[in-house]
Amino acid sequence: MTKKVKIGLIGLGSMGSTHLDIYSKLNDVEVIAIADSIQSRLDGSSKAEGNISGQAEGGVVGLNVKKYLDGMDLINNPDIDAVDICVGTDLHFIFVEAALAKNKHVLVEKPLARTYDDAKKIIQLAKQQSSCHVMSAMCLRYWPAWVFLKEAIENNTYGKCLSLNFKRQTSFPGGAFYSDGNQCGGALLDLHVHDTDFINYCLGSPDAVFSQGYKGPSGDFDHVVTNYIFNNNSPLVSSEGSWTMQEGYGFNMSYTANFENGTLSYLLDEGETLKLFVAGSDPEVINLKEGMGYEFEIRTFITEILAGNKTNFGLLQQAAKTIAIIEAERKSIEKCSIEPVKN
Ligand SMILES: NC(=O)c1ccc[n+]([C@@H]2O[C@H](COP(=O)([O-])OP(=O)(O)OC[C@H]3O[C@@H](n4cnc5c(N)ncnc54)[C@H](O)[C@@H]3O)[C@@H](O)[C@H]2O)c1
Repeated sequence: MTKKVKIGLIGLGSMGSTHLDIYSKLNDVEVIAIADSIQSRLDGSSKAEGNISGQAEGGVVGLNVKKYLDGMDLINNPDIDAVDICVGTDLHFIFVEAALAKNKHVLVEKPLARTYDDAKKIIQLAKQQSSCHVMSAMCLRYWPAWVFLKEAIENNTYGKCLSLNFKRQTSFPGGAFYSDGNQCGGALLDLHVHDTDFINYCLGSPDAVFSQGYKGPSGDFDHVVTNYIFNNNSPLVSSEGSWTMQEGYGFNMSYTANFENGTLSYLLDEGETLKLFVAGSDPEVINLKEGMGYEFEIRTFITEILAGNKTNFGLLQQAAKTIAIIEAERKSIEKCSIEPVKN
């Protein structure tokens, strides 16, 4: 029989439920424990919703696993190989620290931490516990349409990339965590981080940013528009993120990437389409690998553990640097200035 990675999952909100769905489809994984401080989420009498159709559909009802009201107790379970941390962002650091102290592999939801300082501390801890595999759940890095875009940029498939524009907009998610800017960091950190991270992942960190934004229901910046400034020969890059859309708007994400010889246009909307426009040809719909980024991200985490691979510090450091970029964006909004990104 092949070895199964024994998972303990902490936090049964929209992301914890999404991760549970994925684990249930994998053969080389067994979820042996779950934790949530809300009893009804733990026993399945209440359930969080996902924001994308097909996400967080299953639940905990019928799961015959150990259940804990405090994630710290779950971490003490010696049978667990890997801890999946899906609690609010302000708690990421303390749970990663505790899990590494017990020698567990760690998958931690995005953003890596609430602050750049905490993210850097996570990297130090991960370096000290080199037998543990630590991964930041930056799901967009694994989303088929975004993998396609990264390859197109790297390989100059349509010539040099001239401009990139990303958009991510939704109605306010609601709930205690998202209503408290101190916990979630507003849409600026919580939502817009996906696009900032993807830009950092594809092109490296910008040298500076110019952002404008306004506050919303979290009490923090909930709508942001950013220009990413690179001192090298990079494309023009901009991004807009918001969860201040009116109720009923739902969730949408899109990108437009303009190259010397082609334009790529992606829209999640209802049917998820990626189109290629080339002068003189009919628009082409690109066939994408089926599935959401969450699934490929979690498969990667499990594969890395089973292969005995060490933490990919390049990727982890990039996830940390993304938070430094977001913090520069915050400063830029507050001061209405072009802000350099910290090293
Ligand atoms: N990758 C993505 O696309 C994506 C999407 C949504 C959220 N997220 C991230 O996932 C994290 C969680 O978001 P969510 O929407 O699921 O939030 P949520 O508030 O719905 O869920 C978090 C859960 O953690 C539980 N919890 C809090 N403290 C606990 C403790 N000490 N022990 C056990 N359980 C505890 C809460 O009761 C809650 O049920 C956030 O960091 C968020 O940014 C990522």
